[in-house]
Amino acid sequence: MNVPFLDFTRLAARERDEMRAAFDRVHASGRYILGAEVEAFEAEFAAFVSAPHAVGCASGTDAITLALRALGVGPGDDVVTVSMTCAPTVAGIVAAGARPVFCDVDPVSLTMDPVLLPATLTPRTKAIVPVHLYGRPAAMEAITALAREKGLLVVEDCAQAHGARLSGRSVGSFGDAAAWSFYPTKNLGALGDAGLVTARLRETADRVRRLRMYGYVTRNDAQESGMNSRLDELQAALLRARLARLAEGNRRRARLAALYDAALAGVAGVMPPPAPGPGAEPCHHLYVVRAARRDELRDRLLSRGIGTDVHYPTPVHRQPAYAGFPRGPLSATERAAAEVLSLPLYPELTDEEQVAVAAAVREEALSLRA
Ligand SMILES: Cc1ncc(COP(=O)(O)O)c(C=O)c1O
Repeated sequence: MNVPFLDFTRLAARERDEMRAAFDRVHASGRYILGAEVEAFEAEFAAFVSAPHAVGCASGTDAITLALRALGVGPGDDVVTVSMTCAPTVAGIVAAGARPVFCDVDPVSLTMDPVLLPATLTPRTKAIVPVHLYGRPAAMEAITALAREKGLLVVEDCAQAHGARLSGRSVGSFGDAAAWSFYPTKNLGALGDAGLVTARLRETADRVRRLRMYGYVTRNDAQESGMNSRLDELQAALLRARLARLAEGNRRRARLAALYDAALAGVAGVMPPPAPGPGAEPCHHLYVVRAARRDELRDRLLSRGIGTDVHYPTPVHRQPAYAGFPRGPLSATERAAAEVLSLPLYPELTDEEQVAVAAAVREEALSLRA
């Protein structure tokens, strides 16, 4: 059985009518930038994640930049983050004018290791950017406790974590602000690029609103230099249609993840993801196993028609653009980058496909061990 790693055409068929209605509404309105759809999406997404304020923007990368800039982070400041992430986490920090500093991840959870965090702080550290990788909440209680003690800001990278919760609260509600991406592969994805900042304080959100459009306080009155990072009316309308299905999609993801967990438990040569930490409810953005012979396993699955991916094969600190920044020891990051393998997981994946993938993983992992 051929199983694609992702297949957006299945969702396209299911949602055709709602998406066409959204397009027609925007088209007929004659308003294409920062209008009623963006405002409504901001309010509806804020409600979904219980955030006091939400401001749409052009991408998740911009959301990180805008959140940091709005909180006053910029040139001369260090921002501690992880290397076990997608490069845009770090690109967003650099675009704000700050210097990234890399902290290792916990070897099991693969999110920022709060034990190593204190030693990674520098005299210039002004903010911490933890990443809720694969939809699994980072250790926010420990991270925010340290931030409070040291007077540091926290911006959560929630690009992969729509609907993830910790101690009964949505991710994004622990820090001063949070960055969300609606890149098409995310649990809530646009038909193109889109992003959003949630913020604890109105003044932070208001500054993001100014910075996303040239720095305008009112039209033709820029008090500080800003970006063009607006969320389009069209993407906002399409995202509203999909937001209505997000909780249902996340439930289906959870079900598929549980089936994988059961099928892969105890299989030599492949390790299912760890159980969530206390109080953590992941949103199952990616289903990531670990395998010592990852690349061979991946090739074998591909030869059986099963698509997989690796998130991420090259840690950010080893990518040339980001190699020169300060860092602590990154052994857990290095090891994970060599072992992680993402299996197909999306709401439209059928039970039969999940069973076929799990069986193939089991068989190939065992045969690699033989
Ligand atoms: C962890 C993480 N941070 C940031 C981003 C950046 O989002 P975008 O592609 O919308 O700029 C992504 C996704 O692409 C991501 O996975």
